[in-house]
Amino acid sequence: MSFGSTQALDKIDLTIREHEFFTIVGPSGCGKSTLLLLAAGLLQPTEGVIAIDGRPIHAAYTNAGIAFQHHNLLEWRSILGNVLLPLEIRHMETAPFLARARDLLNLVGLAGFENHFPHQLSGGMRQRAALCRALVCDLPLLLMDEPFGALDALSREEHQLMLQEVWMRERKTVLLITHDIREAILLSDRIAVMGPRPGRILDIVDIDLPRPRHQDVSETPEFIAYVRRLRAMLFAKPVTGATP
Ligand SMILES: Nc1ncnc2c1ncn2[C@@H]1O[C@H](COP(=O)(O)OP(=O)(O)OP(=O)(O)O)[C@@H](O)[C@H]1O
Ligand SMILES: [Mg+2]
Repeated sequence: MSFGSTQALDKIDLTIREHEFFTIVGPSGCGKSTLLLLAAGLLQPTEGVIAIDGRPIHAAYTNAGIAFQHHNLLEWRSILGNVLLPLEIRHMETAPFLARARDLLNLVGLAGFENHFPHQLSGGMRQRAALCRALVCDLPLLLMDEPFGALDALSREEHQLMLQEVWMRERKTVLLITHDIREAILLSDRIAVMGPRPGRILDIVDIDLPRPRHQDVSETPEFIAYVRRLRAMLFAKPVTGATP
């Protein structure tokens, strides 16, 4: 995938399985967001094919919920109004999804804030509202680009556990992008590690830890071994002159 003379991605061959929690980690600028936009059909590849359920996608893929690093909530709409927005965009009736919207808000700890406006919520609460918005249509695929990137370390941990709970309940196929190795290990079935631009997949690591995973799993030898393995790949010095 290239933008003019800038090659963002190179030889990406990736299959994400239905219902799995799949995460991509990689250095800044290696093409992670580009890959997510390709998966969403919001960018068209300059080479190669993106297929979902075996069908190549040529336009914005409408069967996915998306949560970006910035929550993008509309300031003039209530929290419930924001969560229901994707239904309106799809010209779907909102009434049948009201109970689901309220249930999701409840699940992420936003019960009672339905009629508040985004500026009345903390950053973390807004991110959680954005997650509900991505989930409200009950679509099979959930794409998330650094959804907790702007949060402080403590809130991040809380949000990771909340996302785990949501995923265990809904079992969407998830593609998550994160810079945070621990977040990736805590949440994922598999983690793809990307090398610097032009981004390639260096390896895919299976995370074999029982769920639900709590924060204290990060003190176990298994978890620490995963951290070491991923860090070693991410911080390895490129070998010049090596063949791919
Ligand atoms: N619309 C665009 N036009 C031109 N170049 C782009 C565009 N989008 C991305 N790029 C380039 O492609 C490369 C990959 O960008 P991308 O945003 O995918 O990286 P990233 O891995 O998501 O980085 P970060 O971790 O900082 O978010 C970068 O060199 C970037 O400058
Ligand atoms: Mg990015």
